[in-house]
Amino acid sequence: MKKNVAVIGSSGAIGNAVSKILLDDESIESVYNFSRSTSDNSSEKSKNIYIDIESEESIKDAVNKIPDDIRFDLIFVATGILHNDSDVYPEKSIRDISSDKFKKVLMINTVGPALIGKYFIPFLNKDNKNVFAFLSARVGSISDNKIGGWYSYRASKTALNQIVKNFSIEIKRSNPNSIFIGLQPGTVKSNLSKPFEKNVQSDNLFTPDQSASKLLEVIDSLTSDDSGKFYAWNGDEIQP
Ligand SMILES: NC(=O)c1ccc[n+]([C@@H]2O[C@H](COP(=O)([O-])OP(=O)(O)OC[C@H]3O[C@@H](n4cnc5c(N)ncnc54)[C@H](OP(=O)(O)O)[C@@H]3O)[C@@H](O)[C@H]2O)c1
Repeated sequence: MKKNVAVIGSSGAIGNAVSKILLDDESIESVYNFSRSTSDNSSEKSKNIYIDIESEESIKDAVNKIPDDIRFDLIFVATGILHNDSDVYPEKSIRDISSDKFKKVLMINTVGPALIGKYFIPFLNKDNKNVFAFLSARVGSISDNKIGGWYSYRASKTALNQIVKNFSIEIKRSNPNSIFIGLQPGTVKSNLSKPFEKNVQSDNLFTPDQSASKLLEVIDSLTSDDSGKFYAWNGDEIQP
């Protein structure tokens, strides 16, 4: 049986790379791409649907466009914010904490993915291994936090990891084949990482394609015992 997959945030560097690899995979029947920048060029295999994850209505509208008979073997959530073009930037110090900016980061990195779970979980293919993967970040690990800073981004990813764990617990009974997972993609060349690239040795900076193919290898290797955990691009488990 061929598989159906969904990528939420398919306009991003990593989301787009994941979507392209899946489109080239002959074992896949259809790739549903969800993003704010949709184009009308859906094909038989690639379907493009608008979504704004800051709006619950938009998420509802998006799932209403999925055909009733579609069930996903993989749902890959690649949305996220670290900074934007206007006011949001990672806090260097306590004095940089701001209510509005913090809420914006939590909305995109935590509340949005939680709502994505709420509306997309019913579309998982319960008959086979089915994976719901969320791009998180190593800095969301409390035990790994050695240098501080980045208050809202760190906290939003820590909370995301908790939500992934909760999904895994709640859905295990109704869908024992499900695997909910947080993923650390490595440091990847993208709009999100651009301001920080200079701090990274070039050998440690992945292209989106490199990261996407490593992450898909990790997903292939997962079993239901891994549900609720957080893995890096190389398959190493990251502790909370
Ligand atoms: N790059 C890295 O080094 C790195 C490291 C660790 C973790 N991560 C995580 O990996 C994920 C992807 O990062 P990336 O590097 O691929 O960044 P990116 O290229 O900036 O992609 C971010 C994606 O999030 C989408 N997005 C933001 N707000 C949205 C909203 N309200 N509704 C719908 N989509 C929204 C963007 O859509 P638009 O195109 O519409 O803006 C874009 O598709 C993030 O969660 C990030 O935290 C990245």
